Amino acid sequence: MNEHTESHAMVKIESLCKRFADLRALDNLALTVNKGDIYGFIGPNGAGKTTTFRILATIMKQDSGSVRIDDIESTCGDKIRSLIGYMPDVFGVYEDMTLYQYLDFFGAAYWIPPAKRKVLVNDILALTDLTFKKDAMVQSLSRGMQQRLGIARVLIHDPKLLILDEPASGLDPRARIELRELLKELSLMGKTILISSHILSELSDICNRVGIIEQGKTVFEGSREELEDRIAGQRVISIDTVPTDRDKALALLRAAPFTNSVKLENGTISLTLHEHMAERSEIPTFLVEHGCSIARFQAEEISLEKAFMSLTEGKLA
Ligand SMILES: Nc1ncnc2c1ncn2[C@@H]1O[C@H](COP(=O)(O)OP(=O)(O)OP(=O)(O)O)[C@@H](O)[C@H]1O
Ligand SMILES: [Mg+2]
Repeated sequence: MNEHTESHAMVKIESLCKRFADLRALDNLALTVNKGDIYGFIGPNGAGKTTTFRILATIMKQDSGSVRIDDIESTCGDKIRSLIGYMPDVFGVYEDMTLYQYLDFFGAAYWIPPAKRKVLVNDILALTDLTFKKDAMVQSLSRGMQQRLGIARVLIHDPKLLILDEPASGLDPRARIELRELLKELSLMGKTILISSHILSELSDICNRVGIIEQGKTVFEGSREELEDRIAGQRVISIDTVPTDRDKALALLRAAPFTNSVKLENGTISLTLHEHMAERSEIPTFLVEHGCSIARFQAEEISLEKAFMSLTEGKLA
């Protein structure tokens, strides 16, 4: 990798290894998060996401391999800790404290002077939409509010990098949208965000970059568009045209260079695309331009399992 790219990296992990007795939890893991990224770190249960995050947060030591955050080696623990805000997957909230007291407490732990702290805590409460719960007890919060408080807490020392372990887990759709909005806002404020999930689709519409790991190894890393492109062959697209245009559409799609398989099932056209030919959004335009009216166009959600199948194909063979 050239120097130019290097200087844009907020997180650079190379050949990271971590064993627990006989288990290789991380097996030469590599990962690069660029400044300004909202990076989705995706893998099934036990893949090594939390282990990676704990090493990044300097609360666990790797066996070997290098971790650099903002060009600082992970051995410089104190410097690293001031750069990052780490929200663990499970975090205890302290009982018998109001939200205000809770955040004020963390502010004090970072030696932020009282006057400045007051402004800061109020700002962060507003940012995370928790002002209305300022004087409520932390244990009285709903799951979604607790997750937002968790994020509020890691913002106190104004870190450049947020490391959020499964922040969307257990949230209802509405709370998930609110979380997404908050992450977008933080990104606009200049934060780099590294966020994990075991559900591919949960992060796919917010992240600009994605890393997929399995058994401690990186299976894929790239932009979201690259990921879409790589897994496109697995994605089944179904199209209903108006009945009179069906045969024409079928013939057009069968002859098109970008389609892999084209079938007609119960009156619905279902197709897959060739890898690297995947601008599925262009298909409706293609059909319409050739005079076919579309009644329904739907691209199937890609599950993590299917993505793995597609991404590890060849590697396993
Ligand atoms: N402290 C530990 N001692 C022993 N084994 C561990 C320890 N921490 C993690 N492991 C093992 O390492 C592997 C990776 O675990 P890790 O928690 O990093 O996975 P994860 O990707 O975060 O999974 P999940 O989606 O379930 O949170 C698992 O097999 C786990 O059992
Ligand atoms: Mg985990």
